[in-house]
Amino acid sequence: MKHFLKLQDLTQKEILELLNMADQLKFERKNKMPHPLLAGKTLGMIFQKSSTRTRVSFEVGMHELGGKALFLSSNDLQIGRGEPIEDTARVLSRYLDGIMIRTYAQAEVEALAEYGSIPIINGLTDYCHPCQVLADLMTIREYKHSFAGRKLCYIGDGNNMTNSLIVGGIKMGMEVSVACPEGYTPDAEICKWAAENGKFTCTPDVLEAAKDADVLYTDVWASMGQESEAAQRRKVFEGIYQINDNVMAVAKPDAMVMHCLPAHREEEITAKVFEEHADEIFEEAENRLHAQKAILVKLMQD
Ligand code: CP
Ligand code: NVA
Repeated sequence: MKHFLKLQDLTQKEILELLNMADQLKFERKNKMPHPLLAGKTLGMIFQKSSTRTRVSFEVGMHELGGKALFLSSNDLQIGRGEPIEDTARVLSRYLDGIMIRTYAQAEVEALAEYGSIPIINGLTDYCHPCQVLADLMTIREYKHSFAGRKLCYIGDGNNMTNSLIVGGIKMGMEVSVACPEGYTPDAEICKWAAENGKFTCTPDVLEAAKDADVLYTDVWASMGQESEAAQRRKVFEGIYQINDNVMAVAKPDAMVMHCLPAHREEEITAKVFEEHADEIFEEAENRLHAQKAILVKLMQD
């Protein structure tokens, strides 16, 4: 594993190795055992979009591993004034030991990896959010103890989260069902791959998708960069694409609820269901730290 660009690039074995390392790092942190596995290393973090979890968990993660993280806002970098990503990659490769980037186009992340000579980590693009889903898989395993035979249901916009959840869920042997409105379905190539490689359904029918689910997952109706579509999207999603008591009633009685956050209460999830499952949702947020530390160690340790 040279980079962490999208989950399609990883085998099930590589994902399991990362999850095992993440569990170990979580244990060491909880027991206050120092783990300076990246002493002297520097991670650059390029952000073209806002972030709370990704920024803080990567920065704290590098600190706990004995290294350092640099926050690089694209407004301040020359990228913001048009310096090509190919040149930025070659320059930053001479100062840093790794780069985490959050941006719009997946092609930019792939270009950084192609032109740079250091590991690149995708911290979210319009196409996928692999760091989040690695933490999600870690959380599902913590609560459900296994992947095989489990049903993961995603309700809402077929976005970057959906794309990564489908790939991650199918790779780990889960059944994946997605409920999205027409015109807002996940990436067609990913859906085709999922149907050929596992048990996968995509339907506009929320209750059909949620039936007997072990895990219910949702995300915002309008992602970062789609602010101008928010009103139109609300008309399509409102009152239908939401995790609420009716949806919980058809899932397994012990179903867990997940959300990558930030959440919009009474839109994609009711405040009631959110609070009833807050323990799972915030454990999921914490696991970003542990899962990303595993990625950093795997990619940047000598
Ligand atoms: N879930 C997630 O990536 O959160 P941030 O946008 O706050 O980083
Ligand atoms: N789909 C959301 C995820 C945020 C973590 C977005 O891209 O804004």
